[in-house]
Amino acid sequence: MPMKFNTKTIHGGQKDIDPAYNSVMAPIYQTTTYRQSSPGHHLGFEYSRGANPTRSALQKSIASIENGKHGIAFGSGLAAIDAVLKTLQPGDEVVATKNIYGGAYRLFENVYKTFGIQFHFVDLQNAKDLEQHLEAKTKLIWIETPTNPMMNIIDVKVVSKLAKQHNILLAVDNTFATPYLQQPLELGADIVMHSGTKYLGGHSDVVLGALVVNDDQLAEQLFFIQNASGAIPGPMDCFLVLRGIKTLHLRMQRHCENAKTIANFLHQHPKVEKVYWPGLLNHPNHSIAKSQMKAYGGMVSFSMKGDSQEEAVQFLERLRVFTLAESLGGVESLAGHPATMTHGSIPKEERLKIGILDSLIRLSVGVEDQDDLIKDLQQALS
Ligand SMILES: Cc1ncc(COP(=O)(O)O)c(C=O)c1O
Repeated sequence: MPMKFNTKTIHGGQKDIDPAYNSVMAPIYQTTTYRQSSPGHHLGFEYSRGANPTRSALQKSIASIENGKHGIAFGSGLAAIDAVLKTLQPGDEVVATKNIYGGAYRLFENVYKTFGIQFHFVDLQNAKDLEQHLEAKTKLIWIETPTNPMMNIIDVKVVSKLAKQHNILLAVDNTFATPYLQQPLELGADIVMHSGTKYLGGHSDVVLGALVVNDDQLAEQLFFIQNASGAIPGPMDCFLVLRGIKTLHLRMQRHCENAKTIANFLHQHPKVEKVYWPGLLNHPNHSIAKSQMKAYGGMVSFSMKGDSQEEAVQFLERLRVFTLAESLGGVESLAGHPATMTHGSIPKEERLKIGILDSLIRLSVGVEDQDDLIKDLQQALS
């Protein structure tokens, strides 16, 4: 029976998940190996780097909520990105969004560049500009939308159309939006990537990554890399993300509602210079966000008048309900300072070019009572 998104988060890909005892939740198969009745005769599992039933349950769940055919799980979001890059060859080129997650930038520039892959970082907010950056050697376009931490929105449909015309794979990091808000494969992307550490897990207690693809050949290649390179998640971690996904729709709804209230509050605050949240009418890509997303997400960034790093640090130190910490997407509200934390690995001149000012604060708005969140921001800004 076809299922809607809110049903898929709970049941998607989970039919007959435990033929042994019909358990409703996928069991944590904490085993490395599986008994064979005769060499090569087994029930589909041989060794847990290659496949594990708890991981398979998670992979099917993630594929289902992304409306994709194949889910492939990894030990972290970066391991998932790494697997995509391993499909390339020396001499290949990649066009990536200018304002990507700092860890992805570091992997591209400090690891894969030394293996002979060239990366071009391009502002894709006007997606039509992309064409002039595509070369015969371009094999992959890597985008995030909304971007981290500037919340730029990229038109996935326009980019995917150009990618298809030039026979280039398009990968979308869907960590910030989650499939609750947008499903990149439906918009024409070839690969969806997730840091499951964030909203999919949802409780800041597990590090995990995933890819979703429709193409069988590409899936085969990525499953091969998953096993050959071995950056797999353990069964307990797969269980935690699988459990997290079951409440993704409920949490995302509240994250979005709370973020809207906070973005509007900050927008009117006299100490705030600029608020970056795609739901605000003055956001430069608001109309694209409106057309490709169901709502505008739980991530809000803002800069302060005077752009003083000292004042930004004081604000962060004063917070009581928000926790000053790396990461995002959990039930608890977090605040961070991209210039010194998540994006510290990007050189300052590059950071400033993309708008990561010294006073920029990134909020991962949680699902607490919004009155308490507003009061906390108010006292920390005062
Ligand atoms: C947008 C985005 N993509 C990828 C990653 C990397 O994920 P992980 O930390 O699970 O390796 C992060 C981590 O913060 C992220 O924010």
